Amino acid sequence: MALPPCDIDVTVCEVGLRDGLQMFDTLFPTEEKLAWIRTEAAAGVREIEVTSFVPPKLVPQFMDAQQVVEGALAIPGLTVLGLVPNMKGAERAIALGVHKLNFVMSVSRTHNLKNVRREREESLEDFRRIADLLRTLPEATRPKLLGGLSSALGCGYEGRIPVDDVVRYAAEYAAAGADEIMVADTVGYADPALVRAAFKAVMAEVGPLPVSAHFHDTRGLGLANVAAALDCGVRRFDASLAGLGGCQFVPRATGNIVMDDLCFMLDSMGMRTGVDLQKLLAVREIVARNLPATPLYGSLARAGLPVNYATH
Ligand code: COA
Ligand code: ZN
Repeated sequence: MALPPCDIDVTVCEVGLRDGLQMFDTLFPTEEKLAWIRTEAAAGVREIEVTSFVPPKLVPQFMDAQQVVEGALAIPGLTVLGLVPNMKGAERAIALGVHKLNFVMSVSRTHNLKNVRREREESLEDFRRIADLLRTLPEATRPKLLGGLSSALGCGYEGRIPVDDVVRYAAEYAAAGADEIMVADTVGYADPALVRAAFKAVMAEVGPLPVSAHFHDTRGLGLANVAAALDCGVRRFDASLAGLGGCQFVPRATGNIVMDDLCFMLDSMGMRTGVDLQKLLAVREIVARNLPATPLYGSLARAGLPVNYATH
């Protein structure tokens, strides 16, 4: 197996404020969300998905979307993302000036119906309308549009998902005008062999469009899957601090890959993330004090940096 070149830049995107917090009924105070965002941005994380533009009645955790986005947009150099499940979510995100819209559709028909109450073709139609709307905006301020493919590498309802389906929906996103494609293993079913097969096929199909990866560590294969995706040329990864995360519409879904461990692995391999590992570890305190009953994951936090470790 060819190892990826080490002398590369890799972008990490924090999704704990969205993928993690959507699991919790207890509201994480707005000021504390902003403290988390500011402190993690100061640690060097340059992309953060700060909220979800879903109906506040459905997910009260994100009723403060406006304040959180406004606070996050004030941080220099930070790319602010928000999840959008439909046109209405996109309109809300665009009105606030979010930099990147993370549109979500599941490759699994069953999960898409449960998650966003749409057939996949209806979700795609929404995506095309959002892309059309974005094209009417001035290029300089136009948000980027990320086409997210959830449950792409396995589904908690349907089990295996054919790679051909992932490729087909990635191609639909690309044709509609996506700026980036995200392949997500929402329930942590993937293994490195499947990652290699799926990402190679998707990347061959969508050509120059960047393809990013979103892994959950449900069955312990998260970082192995990152290594396989790096090998395929993926250079952008979602992760959540302390491994918070899941999906309330997937039975037994658990957390994202741990941001701290991801950054350590990349840094240790000589790749550039821009993240200061000690500063990143310190951000866990903000999560801990607001979610005292929640287990925080992370091997780096438990074991510490190796003796004489030299950051790259
Ligand atoms: N933001 C705010 N309000 C919204 C909205 C959005 N993105 N989308 C719809 N609404 C409002 C509508 O205006 C309507 O309001 P009304 O009853 O006052 O007229 C109401 O919600 C129902 O609208 P509808 O289009 O029928 O939505 P729906 O009931 O079919 O739900 C979704 C569709 C996509 C909004 C909902 O299933 C959803 O939010 N899913 C995401 C769940 C999630 O967070 N999953 C985890 C992330 S992967
Ligand atoms: Zn996820």
